[in-house]
Amino acid sequence: MAGRKRHLLPLLLLVSLSVLFFFTCYHSSVPFSSPDRNPNPNFILHPQNPDNPNFTFNVKVLAYNRLDSLSRCLRSLAAADYLSDRVHLHVHIDHFALGDAAAPPPDDVDRKLHESRRILEFVDRFEWKVGDKVVHYRTANVGLQAQWLEAWWPSSDHEFAFVVEDDLEVSPLYYKFLRSLIVNYYYNASNFRPYIYGASLQRPRFVPGKHGNKLNLDDGTRFFLYQLVGTWGQLLFPKPWKEFRLWYDKHKSKGIKPILDGMVTTGWYKRIGEKIWTPWFIKFIHTRGYFNIYTNFLHERALSVSHRDAGVNYGKTAGPDSHILDESSFDYKFWDMQPLSDLKWYDFCFREIFPERVVVSLDELGSVLNSVQKHNTVIIVSLFGAKEMVIRNLLCHFESINLLNYVLIGSESEFLFDLARRGHPVVATNRFLESVGAYKLVSMQDPYVQMINEILIKVYVLQKCLESRYSSWVVDANMLPVSSDPFVESDPLYDFYIGKSSELFFAGRPSSARKVWGNDFISKFAATVNSLLVKPQSMSFGYVMAKLLEQKRGVRVKNLDETSFGLRIDNSNVNQSLGDGKQMAFWSNDMASDLVQKRLQELGVWIVNDDFSCKAVICHQS
Ligand SMILES: *[C@@H]1O[C@H](CO)[C@@H](O)[C@H](O)[C@H]1NC(C)=O
Ligand SMILES: *[C@@H]1O[C@H](CO)[C@@H](O)[C@H](O)[C@H]1NC(C)=O
Ligand SMILES: *[C@@H]1O[C@H](CO)[C@@H](O)[C@H](O)[C@H]1NC(C)=O
Repeated sequence: MAGRKRHLLPLLLLVSLSVLFFFTCYHSSVPFSSPDRNPNPNFILHPQNPDNPNFTFNVKVLAYNRLDSLSRCLRSLAAADYLSDRVHLHVHIDHFALGDAAAPPPDDVDRKLHESRRILEFVDRFEWKVGDKVVHYRTANVGLQAQWLEAWWPSSDHEFAFVVEDDLEVSPLYYKFLRSLIVNYYYNASNFRPYIYGASLQRPRFVPGKHGNKLNLDDGTRFFLYQLVGTWGQLLFPKPWKEFRLWYDKHKSKGIKPILDGMVTTGWYKRIGEKIWTPWFIKFIHTRGYFNIYTNFLHERALSVSHRDAGVNYGKTAGPDSHILDESSFDYKFWDMQPLSDLKWYDFCFREIFPERVVVSLDELGSVLNSVQKHNTVIIVSLFGAKEMVIRNLLCHFESINLLNYVLIGSESEFLFDLARRGHPVVATNRFLESVGAYKLVSMQDPYVQMINEILIKVYVLQKCLESRYSSWVVDANMLPVSSDPFVESDPLYDFYIGKSSELFFAGRPSSARKVWGNDFISKFAATVNSLLVKPQSMSFGYVMAKLLEQKRGVRVKNLDETSFGLRIDNSNVNQSLGDGKQMAFWSNDMASDLVQKRLQELGVWIVNDDFSCKAVICHQS
């Protein structure tokens, strides 16, 4: 049986490669139609009437001891237009700090009691016409962290919370706007994403990643996505908030601190610790790769402004941070909810990222290569056979050394889609091979077939790179660069590099590739693969390329000795270090991944947490 299949395969391979050859030669300018932009089937939509969804909206006001602030805040909320909806008001009033029970009460205790009474009386008298009013008066001082975290436990996927601290003032238009936002970005299936956790109404101002970009937005940007939470008027979506509460619970209970290196907010946490909640939320959002919707109304205008009154966040009153947007500043674009696909996405460095680039066709590949190439060079990273932790660590290093000109190739999996969602461009091998007519092979669950697929996909991507005139590196994930130098082409005397360690490197220059093969690279490659299939154990992409190049006269091939610039790690622990000419670590494909992790830890280049997130945010100005 196995023998018969082996005989069959070369033929199939040759056929499918030839199909590709004709296809690329004669049809490459015809655009692909791609009805299903996002091949990830795992977005669960909310079963609701999309035009008029039935949801619960709770306003959560967090108050303490500032009556003037609170009354301004509540009045602005009551003055808003709620259409004919029911909206509930929940006021959480923190208590002043109690002294030590054994000690005599502080001198000002009567004044504080009096202030609390006045606040409660005001809230009791305050008329809330559009829904229920619920007051939660604490017995002790819990601080902002517990005020936020305990403000809400969603009772369904159709309940939303809009959290306002007492020194905020909202626009009369705020609810109409948020309602429209919920309908368009939560209940509209084409715009819904489970990794959007809410929307901030404050004017975007702050970039928490150290040395990040200035928060520059062009005038045409009305909505955008940004990882940072905005504490001045934040709408929370139910599911991510629940997830956060559970995550917080776990970490807090186990004494794990929300340390995320490279963030200004981590500095705050180290100084004032549990007084604030944002470092916890930020760490959670970073781990999950979630996003918040923001608005950009220009001219320092916003639907929610902070008066920055003296209190926990401000030693003395700083005044309003923005101008309130009301009917008088209304313009027709205001209600225009752009489709999600038109919006830009920014990380904690305010670097634009591009989620959901899952390449399933040649045309898509071409445009992704154009967008990632740097100095006309692309690095093709094969994820086949590598463990998730090792790959995540590799990508943390790419971020750290600002290496962005790569595409990842792997087979369809939750993990691969997750990488795409976080902004890493991926090629979905099976769907891609299917789209170029090589699917018969793909569908066979045979390790030998898997090996061929891996070689095939490398060839297709490489071919497209060279055709697009980009120098290309093909590498496996069994290496870890600590600088981008190894990928900077240095020696114009050579057309190709082939790594001595099998599957570490292959590189090609576009001009030489055309010089060598003209346009029929793929069919030459197919023929070579075919001739090698008699002893498949020796088959690998690097091996086939070496064989192929051997047959060509005049091609200048350099055998690259990886040890000249890289450090080979293996089972024995010798006293090694990176840097000083050793710009990468590499290892054999069959080295056990826990051992790889151990060695990389010893070298100080294991920068991924156990939950697969990078230990640090590292910004580069762009
Ligand atoms: C909306 O949902 C609430 C609670 O789930 C329910 O009681 C109410 O009947 C619903 N209203 C409509 C119009 O479906
Ligand atoms: C959902 O959003 C898309 C893109 O913004 C839009 O074209 C479509 O009309 C919306 N559907 C509904 C029911 O509003
Ligand atoms: C490893 O190197 C360090 C410093 O470079 C040295 O102190 C230590 O003795 C070395 N260990 C071994 C086992 O060679």
